Amino acid sequence: MAARSMSNWVKFAALLSVLAAPAMAKNAAQFGVGTTPTQEQIAGWAIGIRPDGQGLPDGHGSVKDGDEVYANTCAACHGTFGEGAGRYPRLAGEGKLTGDRPEQTIQTYWPYATTLFDYIDRAMPFPTPHVLTPDQVYAVTAYVLNLNGLVGDDFVADKETLPKVQMPNRDGFIWKDPRPDTYDTACMSDCVSPDAIKITSTAEGKSLTPKTTGPLDTAMPQ
Ligand code: HEC
Repeated sequence: MAARSMSNWVKFAALLSVLAAPAMAKNAAQFGVGTTPTQEQIAGWAIGIRPDGQGLPDGHGSVKDGDEVYANTCAACHGTFGEGAGRYPRLAGEGKLTGDRPEQTIQTYWPYATTLFDYIDRAMPFPTPHVLTPDQVYAVTAYVLNLNGLVGDDFVADKETLPKVQMPNRDGFIWKDPRPDTYDTACMSDCVSPDAIKITSTAEGKSLTPKTTGPLDTAMPQ
């Protein structure tokens, strides 16, 4: 087959697949692709907890109960007193986020105790999350809050008490990005004709992308 007619075949095949795509989506059921998720499956994924506590499960856990959960499932990585072990993060203590080496702990960083619960529930203990019961997550959350001096020794965490814990960095987050989406003002009338627009400069050849190999001092844009 001549090269030219071959390329026409390729174009024809591409056109066919574009035309066929919507029909395939429509007939997904017919092809037996996927299943409709059950309410139970959706509930398994919808575990998000809001700052005001919406989504927190039933159950409760005390600082005292959390002591044991923490010792058994967290201390190996985060240290007996939350001081961090090896390269694993420190969880407890004071510090500053604003220095050259920000000191991130539950006390200095986390804005809501409910978000802390959510994080522990979905991500810890690393690397096998979801092995703790809601009571155990409540307990260990109470325990690490206590390690940070944010709740008393007799604190019991549940869906009523956790949203009421005042975290020191609560107001340290900027929830609304103040920057505009674009610095240009959209032209709505008498705009320049697209044909008159000429590209006068591109990023090509300007070495704007940092190199990703080699020592750091040569990895910066030139
Ligand atoms: C095998 C080690 C390991 C174990 C066990 C473990 N963690 Fe972690 N933890 C990590 C690592 C690694 C990170 C950082 C994860 C990241 O940044 O993506 C982390 C992060 C955290 C953070 C966030 C720290 C921050 O401020 O960024 C919290 C809170 C936390 N873990 C709590 C717990 C609790 C509670 C347990 C026990 C139920 C636990 N972890 C068990 C390794 C561990």
